[in-house]
Amino acid sequence: MPLRVRLTLWYGTALALVLMIFSMVLYAMTARNLRDAVDQSLEETAMTAVRSLEARGFLPLINEEELLSQFPELTRIDKFFQIFSPSGTISIRSPNIKQHEVPLSRTALDTAFAGQSIFESAKYPNEPPLRLISVPIMYRGNLLYIVQVGTSMESVGETLHRFLILLMVAIPIALTVSLAGGWFLAGRALRPVDKITLAAQRIAAGDLSQRLSMPAAHDEIGRLAATFNNMIGRLDVSFRQIRQFTSDASHELRTPLTVMKGETDLVLRRPRALEDYKSVLESNLEETDRMTRIVDELLFLSRADMGEVKMESLPVAMESLVEDIHRQATLLGQDRNIEVVLGTVMPVVVQGDDLRLRELLLNLVENAMKYSHPGGKVEISLLNDGREGRLSVTDHGIGIASPDHKRIFHRFFRTDVARAHTKKGTGLGLAICAWITDLHKGRIEVKSDLGQGSTFTVVLPLAHPAA
Ligand SMILES: Nc1ncnc2c1ncn2[C@@H]1O[C@H](COP(=O)(O)OP(=O)(O)O)[C@@H](O)[C@H]1O
Ligand SMILES: [Mg+2]
Repeated sequence: MPLRVRLTLWYGTALALVLMIFSMVLYAMTARNLRDAVDQSLEETAMTAVRSLEARGFLPLINEEELLSQFPELTRIDKFFQIFSPSGTISIRSPNIKQHEVPLSRTALDTAFAGQSIFESAKYPNEPPLRLISVPIMYRGNLLYIVQVGTSMESVGETLHRFLILLMVAIPIALTVSLAGGWFLAGRALRPVDKITLAAQRIAAGDLSQRLSMPAAHDEIGRLAATFNNMIGRLDVSFRQIRQFTSDASHELRTPLTVMKGETDLVLRRPRALEDYKSVLESNLEETDRMTRIVDELLFLSRADMGEVKMESLPVAMESLVEDIHRQATLLGQDRNIEVVLGTVMPVVVQGDDLRLRELLLNLVENAMKYSHPGGKVEISLLNDGREGRLSVTDHGIGIASPDHKRIFHRFFRTDVARAHTKKGTGLGLAICAWITDLHKGRIEVKSDLGQGSTFTVVLPLAHPAA
């Protein structure tokens, strides 16, 4: 069942229930109030009669004309009265009761002997019910008379009947109008949901550039649309990234394959000297190494993405790590005539994984050496400001233009200058560095100008920051 129908039905049922209970209570209260008003007026009339009788000293009454002249209020047509003797027989009664007998009930008589007044209802066939009050008149503990005043409940019955008809007409009308209103409102409230559904269908059909038009209101629907747009935006970005990544990866793997195939083809075209085969095989080995490295790094990154790479969390003394890498880099630098020096090295202890931090620093130093000019100098320094450790690698090489400062951390991104400078490199090293830094809750800062050299600074929180 559509939500709109369900909402309207729920709402209608609840409203009908409320209206029914409300009108039942209203009807009962009105009936009660009307009867109370009748009772009160009966009691007042009876009391007036009693007081007048008392004022006359309880002299026996002779006839009704005398009584009526005595008590003009008893002549009101809507009431009749009777006066009974203690034996229960009627001594006097008003003329407007002549049609039929209204005898004193047993209960009324008993109550009168007890000196109490009583209200009663009486019902005769084909007539509206009667309401009666019987009041005893006592004199020195003896029952003299019983005054009974009665009235027809006809007008009360009619009023209640009219009220009932009014309710029976008004409730269905009110219910219909509110149901129509509810149907309309539910439709209006749900219209944006329909729109979202349609847009979602278009998006599901593959168009991730689609966005939902946002309702102006900051209500539930507005938030839903915003969340939805946000989600689509992120999906869009990650799909693009994956596509880009796949094409980059294929491209990066294809280049060495093309080189290998070209060289092999060429050398196999005719018999060659042993030296030629050897040099092609060496070149192929180099390309194979390169591909192996790309595949290894890709594998690492994809395992890192899936959260499968384990990280230690132990105190790591960075200064000894820096010294180790410095030693290693000095050896590597000798081939290319690049000098690796240590700047200021302060003691720094961070919480983390020693092997990963080594990899991080080695990546940065390798980059610095790789993108330096022959005869260049690379400096490693380690500072401690009490809160953070700052590990910097500075070179005076090719540098990076500032628009690329962010992009160099993307997978496979290599600047054109870098590609021109060296064939070596996968474009994955800095992505791995960024990942390792992230896991150590640190950040990497880049300061670099094209042609001037670069400084990469890894900022890591200390294991025990100074208070
Ligand atoms: N020290 C540096 N000097 C100049 N460019 C750098 C330096 N380090 C990184 N880059 C730039 O960032 C890119 C990405 O670096 P990286 O991810 O380590 O890949 P790779 O070292 O395989 O080229 C490099 O291709 C280069 O363009
Ligand atoms: Mg690198």
